[in-house]
Amino acid sequence: MPRFTFRQFVVITVLTFGLFHQLTLFICDKDTTKGPSNTTIEVVITCATNKRILNITKKSDSKTLEKLRTLLGSINKTSEESYIRFNLISYEEEIPRIESVLQSTIGLNKKITYRFESLNRIAESYRSEINLSKNYTWSGDQRFKASDVTFHLRPLFPKIFSYEKVIALDVDLDFRCSIKLLHKQFENLYENNIAALAYNQSPYYRRAFRSYRIKNPGTHIGDFFPGYQGLNTGVMLMNLEKMRSSKVYNSYFTHASLKTLFRKYNMTSLLGDQDFFTVLGAEHPDLFYILDCTFNRQMDSFEFSHSLFDKYHKCDEDINIYHGNGDSIIPSSNVDP
Ligand SMILES: *[C@@H]1O[C@H](CO)[C@@H](O)[C@H](O)[C@H]1NC(C)=O
Ligand SMILES: *[C@@H]1O[C@H](CO)[C@@H](O)[C@H](O)[C@H]1NC(C)=O
Ligand SMILES: *[C@@H]1O[C@H](CO)[C@@H](O)[C@H](O)[C@H]1NC(C)=O
Ligand SMILES: *[C@@H]1O[C@H](CO)[C@@H](O)[C@H](O)[C@H]1NC(C)=O
Ligand SMILES: *[C@@H]1O[C@H](CO)[C@@H](O)[C@H](O)[C@H]1NC(C)=O
Ligand SMILES: *[C@@H]1O[C@H](CO)[C@@H](O)[C@H](O)[C@H]1NC(C)=O
Repeated sequence: MPRFTFRQFVVITVLTFGLFHQLTLFICDKDTTKGPSNTTIEVVITCATNKRILNITKKSDSKTLEKLRTLLGSINKTSEESYIRFNLISYEEEIPRIESVLQSTIGLNKKITYRFESLNRIAESYRSEINLSKNYTWSGDQRFKASDVTFHLRPLFPKIFSYEKVIALDVDLDFRCSIKLLHKQFENLYENNIAALAYNQSPYYRRAFRSYRIKNPGTHIGDFFPGYQGLNTGVMLMNLEKMRSSKVYNSYFTHASLKTLFRKYNMTSLLGDQDFFTVLGAEHPDLFYILDCTFNRQMDSFEFSHSLFDKYHKCDEDINIYHGNGDSIIPSSNVDP
C-alpha cells in the first residue's frame, strides 16, 4: 500500500473535494515531527536590550518582549511533540519580566522547560574575548547595534554551554513548523561542518565585501547563489562538541589570526558575530552547512531598491520559520487551529 506524507494527503484530499482555494494554505508535514526520539532540544535565546535594563514602559523594550512572546507562542503551537529546554541569556535584572512572558506562552506545556544564564556573569567572564570581537566586527560607532555585548556572544557558546548541540535563535522569529524539523537538519551536517546557517537574503554582504570584490574580479564571495551571499545568524544550529574540538575554529580567538582574516577580506564590519561567521565561512566554507532558506526567511526589505535584491531574496518554498529582521513585518499565520 502506497504511503503518503501528510502534505501529499492534504493536497490529494483538497483536490478530491475541489477546495482549490485551500491550496494556498501551508500545512506542515506532520510525519517529520514524529519519531522515537524524545531527546531534549536545547535552544539558546539572548533576550536583552541595548538599554541594559528591560523597561516595558519604553517602547523599544516592550517590542522585544512582544517578539519573544510571538516566538515562544509559535514554538508552543507548532512543536507539540518536542521536548525543549530554553536557555535564556539575559541580565539578572530582566529575569522577572521575561519569566512572565515564558509563563504566559509555554507555562502549561509539560514538555518545555527553561533556565536562565546570567549575562552579567558572561560579560564579566569573557571580557577579553568580547573585546576582541568588538575590535573586528564593530565600527566603534555607538549607534550601531554591535556596540552591544549581546551581538558578540554566539562564538562563545561552545565555552558557555557544555551541551553537545544547541539551536541558537534570534528573538524576532515566528515558527510555522515544528522545531523538531529544524533539529533534524543536524543530521545533514558533514564531518567538518561545525554549524548550520542560512544565507543572508539581501545584497548586504555584496556591499560589505566590495573592496575584496574589486580586487578579485569574478569572485563568488558576496555574489548571489550559487555564490556566497554571506550568513545570517538568526537561526543557527551549533554542534558545540565539534566547535570545541575544531582546531581551525579555535585558532580564531587570537588578535593575530583575526587581523589576518579581516585584512584578507577587508570587510566593512558592523554586525558583530554575524560578520565573524560570514568571514569565517568565506575562508573555510567546509566549516558550515547551508540551511535551506525556508528555515530563516528574512523579511527585511531595507535594500529592496537594490537592482539585485530579488536574486538574493529568492525563496519560493513553504516557509518553516519567518525572521522579522530589521523590525520587518511577518505575514500572519494562516494555520491557526
Ligand atoms: C524518553 O523516553 C524514555 C522511555 O520512553 C523515558 O525513560 C525518558 O525519560 C524520556 N525522556 C524525556 C526527556 O522525557
Ligand atoms: C522605566 O522607564 C521610565 C521612563 O523612562 C522611568 O521613569 C522608570 O524609572 C524606569 N523604570 C525602571 C525600573 O527602570
Ligand atoms: C502550550 O502548549 C501546550 C501543549 O500543547 C498547551 O496545553 C498549552 O495550553 C499551550 N499554552 C501555554 C500557555 O502553555
Ligand atoms: C576592553 O576594552 C575596554 C575599552 O575598549 C577597556 O577599557 C578594557 O580594559 C578592555 N578589557 C580587556 C580585558 O581587554
Ligand atoms: C584592536 O585592533 C587594533 C588594530 O588592529 C589593535 O592594535 C588592538 O590591539 C586591538 N585590540 C584588541 C583588544 O584586540
Ligand atoms: C580596504 O577597503 C578600503 C575601502 O573600504 C580601501 O580604502 C583599502 O585600500 C582596502 N585595503 C586593502 C588592503 O585592500
